[in-house]
Amino acid sequence: MNEVLQTIYTRRSVRSYEAEPVPEAVLQEIVKAGIYAPSAMNQQSWHLTVLTRKALERYVAFAEKKAGRNAYHNAPAVVLVFGDSAAIEPVRDGTLAISSMMLAARSLGVSSCWINIVNHIFTGPDTDAMAAEWGIPAGYRPVGSLELGYSAEEAREAAPRKDGTVTWLSE
Ligand SMILES: Cc1cc2nc3c(=O)[nH]c(=O)nc-3n(C[C@H](O)[C@H](O)[C@H](O)COP(=O)(O)O)c2cc1C
Repeated sequence: MNEVLQTIYTRRSVRSYEAEPVPEAVLQEIVKAGIYAPSAMNQQSWHLTVLTRKALERYVAFAEKKAGRNAYHNAPAVVLVFGDSAAIEPVRDGTLAISSMMLAARSLGVSSCWINIVNHIFTGPDTDAMAAEWGIPAGYRPVGSLELGYSAEEAREAAPRKDGTVTWLSE
């Protein structure tokens, strides 16, 4: 099996991480893969905020205060992905960026998990002000967030695929 397929089939969402940080050069490569995702009319409508160290501690505390729970599993890096609400397809564009980052991370030995809590935190009339604190431009809305780090879990197989999710038609 080629390496791309192997990466796709072996990627798992991980929720327990070693304390070891992910080197910045590795994070840069992962983020670069994210912004090379396709986007509707090539609008590249995403904004990514990469959080590590003190900034991540501040963000996790902020998120816990807003959401009433810590959703981030002590991962050493988190990327917030927002989309320009004036773009054609900000949620689909941002989702593809997250998907590309997950697979790039996996290919580099870094584990990840999509954490959806941003969609509950960054909502309501204060959204722009809250988001600005994390470097996110006005008018951008949350798509998701991705925690990243070295897995402290046993590797596991993918869950069985559901039946009936693909229809083949050839005539
Ligand atoms: C849109 C979306 C939102 C998700 N939100 C969360 C989340 O908030 N917390 C979490 O632990 N996992 C979250 N996940 C991870 C899924 O639970 C995981 O992808 C699924 O169980 C399949 O497992 P796998 O990724 O290991 O194949 C999310 C995944 C997606 C695609």
